[in-house]
Amino acid sequence: MLAIATLDLPLPCVLAPMSGISDLPFRLITRSFGAPLAFTEMIDVRAIHHKDKRTRHMLASTPEDRPLGVQILGNDGESLIKALDALEEWDFELLDFNAACPTPKVTRKGKGAALLKEPHILKKLLGLLVERSKVPVTVKIRAGWDHNSINAREVALIAEDAGVSGIFIHGRTKAQGYSGTVDYRIIREAKKAVKVPVIASGDNASVCAVKKMFDETGCDGVVIARGSLGNPWIFREAVRFFQDGGVCSKPDPYERSMIMKRHLGLSVQHYGEKKGVGNFHKFFIWYTKGLSGIKPFRDRAFRANTLGELLALIDELHTLEHSVPEPEASYS
Ligand SMILES: Cc1cc2nc3c(=O)[nH]c(=O)nc-3n(C[C@H](O)[C@H](O)[C@H](O)COP(=O)(O)O)c2cc1C
Repeated sequence: MLAIATLDLPLPCVLAPMSGISDLPFRLITRSFGAPLAFTEMIDVRAIHHKDKRTRHMLASTPEDRPLGVQILGNDGESLIKALDALEEWDFELLDFNAACPTPKVTRKGKGAALLKEPHILKKLLGLLVERSKVPVTVKIRAGWDHNSINAREVALIAEDAGVSGIFIHGRTKAQGYSGTVDYRIIREAKKAVKVPVIASGDNASVCAVKKMFDETGCDGVVIARGSLGNPWIFREAVRFFQDGGVCSKPDPYERSMIMKRHLGLSVQHYGEKKGVGNFHKFFIWYTKGLSGIKPFRDRAFRANTLGELLALIDELHTLEHSVPEPEASYS
């Protein structure tokens, strides 16, 4: 369905790297619905050198969390090489290099999307990674820096020349950040230009949107990002769609509560109770999006400090009038 280097994935939809979100608990939840590949959030190569607790949490994985891509962020060769040495301690299947992050704190230092303005530097860095990495290397880019400098096609060609095994393209410019429309045309042009797989990102928030991305761009695969928040079963819907074009029903309130509890349990297991519960607060919001009368529950969720409190609150959700969205009638 989607082949990247030696990986043969049964579904052409993968979980995006997302800072503060795509940690081990969330990856495991999405994998339980069929995500065939997931990424860590971006990790600065300097943090990898230090191997502090936070970085170890980001890199932690289990056999059920495979294949795994580790995404790194950096802009100088020496730091990249040191990070590769430090990464020897961890097992993973892909190394993804971030040339897409639009955050000023990152781009001011010449990292992330800033590298789109310096394709020759990007090429050198990717060449170095390809030469030294123990696993295949991919790169994540954007449509361009801004609408006056759309260059994903050129950057994709440069990355392919440097030896990467796949190119992830977020079809927005750095200037757009996370809003505005996705440029399908530039993804299509990049896809046409290179032989390595192109995996498209941007607004893949439903199976309909995923289908549109494939139709409009001819991409080899897609990345599911914000569409998975509070909605990890989007992967189950995608599995069904790619199997026989069928439509899956959304989880009923009972199943949704079970998923929330499983996710919360994994979070506590991974971070310990205090941080695990705190970290789950944002997921509570996403999982309960659209439920009428949810506000007081959310307020209580934010005040909850223990696993017991939050589990009891999730159990109480059934007292709400649930509005479970209807499945999309057809994807054609
Ligand atoms: C909260 C958040 C954090 C993100 N962190 C990363 C990251 O660490 N690395 C990365 O390559 N992209 C990151 N992204 C970008 C997503 O991977 C994806 O490319 C982008 O959100 C577009 O897809 P969407 O419109 O379907 O959300 C992040 C996006 C969001 C919303």
